[in-house]
Amino acid sequence: MLLKIHFILIVFTAVTFGSVQHNNLIIAVGDELEFLTDGNAYRTLTLNSYNATKLSALAYDATTRKLFFSDQRHHYGHIFSVSLDNESHRPVEDIVEKNNNETVESLAYDPVNKMLLWTDGLNRAIRRVQIDNDPIHIEEKDGVQIVHFLENDAKPRGLVSDPCTRMLYWTNVHDSNPTIERSFLNGSHREIVLHSDLLLPNAFDLDIMEQMIYWAEDLHNGYFRIERSYVNGTGRQEFYRGMGSFIVSLTVGEDYVYWTDYSHKKLWSLRKDGSSEKPIILRTFRYPATGVVVFRHQPLDCSLVKIHHQAHRADGETLTIIFSTITLLMVLAMAAVLVIRLKDNRRPLVLSKKNEGTFAFQNLENGSSNNNVYTACERAI
Ligand SMILES: *[C@@H]1O[C@H](CO)[C@@H](O)[C@H](O)[C@H]1NC(C)=O
Ligand SMILES: *[C@@H]1O[C@H](CO)[C@@H](O)[C@H](O)[C@H]1NC(C)=O
Ligand SMILES: *[C@@H]1O[C@H](CO)[C@@H](O)[C@H](O)[C@H]1NC(C)=O
Ligand SMILES: *[C@@H]1O[C@H](CO)[C@@H](O)[C@H](O)[C@H]1NC(C)=O
Ligand SMILES: *[C@@H]1O[C@H](CO)[C@@H](O)[C@H](O)[C@H]1NC(C)=O
Repeated sequence: MLLKIHFILIVFTAVTFGSVQHNNLIIAVGDELEFLTDGNAYRTLTLNSYNATKLSALAYDATTRKLFFSDQRHHYGHIFSVSLDNESHRPVEDIVEKNNNETVESLAYDPVNKMLLWTDGLNRAIRRVQIDNDPIHIEEKDGVQIVHFLENDAKPRGLVSDPCTRMLYWTNVHDSNPTIERSFLNGSHREIVLHSDLLLPNAFDLDIMEQMIYWAEDLHNGYFRIERSYVNGTGRQEFYRGMGSFIVSLTVGEDYVYWTDYSHKKLWSLRKDGSSEKPIILRTFRYPATGVVVFRHQPLDCSLVKIHHQAHRADGETLTIIFSTITLLMVLAMAAVLVIRLKDNRRPLVLSKKNEGTFAFQNLENGSSNNNVYTACERAI
């Protein structure tokens, strides 16, 4: 019962206070980084004392307000970071030195252990490096550890980490046997999440709050598709199928999925809840955009993961119906409950702290203050 009330509270809050909004995005285009606010205002991020060549993989850390990126044709560096704290001063640091024998396809940052991870497709490896002190500069030989060294012909491509569940997910664009896999961030418990009906899961992201993975592939017949499933591979569904564009990168925001494509050189957006049929074009670039990430002002609040997780146990479409029905029917009832609650005492609307589910973070304190959210998550495990 309590759970239901909380669920309804969330719906109520969402309906009353939360309209659908675009996330702010950082986009890599050629030798430039672009910042997109509310889906329409653009500006180029100038980088101090740094000449970019061809930017690609991006990862953003809201705890330190640092953006990590790789620069494919840079003479000395491989992976860089830039602090986005100060509008007028954005110092770039060379974090991982260039090694002609290695590639960086995708970057992920774990704020709990301050670990930067990346896929090296050429060497079939997922590597990591600890970013503990500022400034940091690592020669490839020292400091870089291998999380996974994959089998013959494997090609790790997309990579995402989940600070809340301590998991790592990646796609393997193997020619004949592509997979989507996961393990703990420390490399243990590696397992294959999906292996059937995959072609080239090139662009990849994780919706941490909903615990769903999204991937995009080229279908070789002029079409591409974006699919999603729960992180354990169940509940797989086609999210969108479109024509004529190879998807280069994809990121999942609160309300929208965003992707960039090669042939049209555009940034697209599509509502996650399925309420819009066609994707909306947010921007057309001079070159294909090679990376896109959501820019968050606050780190994710892991204590909220469980609620969404439970709410989504139902099948997606049924859930949408349940959602709208409950919303319509219960808004009035909730108003009454709220009035009674407010009369009762002046407690703010906090989410449950009780152990009601089976999700790993049920014991977390409610994270209305975002300090040490990740640390709290780690302690909970
Ligand atoms: C960037 O390029 C300009 C012009 O080629 C050069 O003068 C400058 O020294 C370069 N800066 C760095 C940090 O490489
Ligand atoms: C931002 O950078 C500028 C230029 O380096 C500096 O003058 C200013 O003090 C910095 N602002 C903050 C808040 O650090
Ligand atoms: C390049 O990588 C391969 C496989 O990881 C390794 O055997 C080889 O020694 C490397 N070559 C250089 C020059 O580092
Ligand atoms: C790896 O991480 C998992 C989950 O965080 C933990 O349960 C496990 O003990 C760790 N294994 C090692 C070898 O550290
Ligand atoms: C996979 O995840 C879904 C959604 O969280 C859950 O309902 C289902 O029981 C899980 N299946 C397995 C086999 O763990």
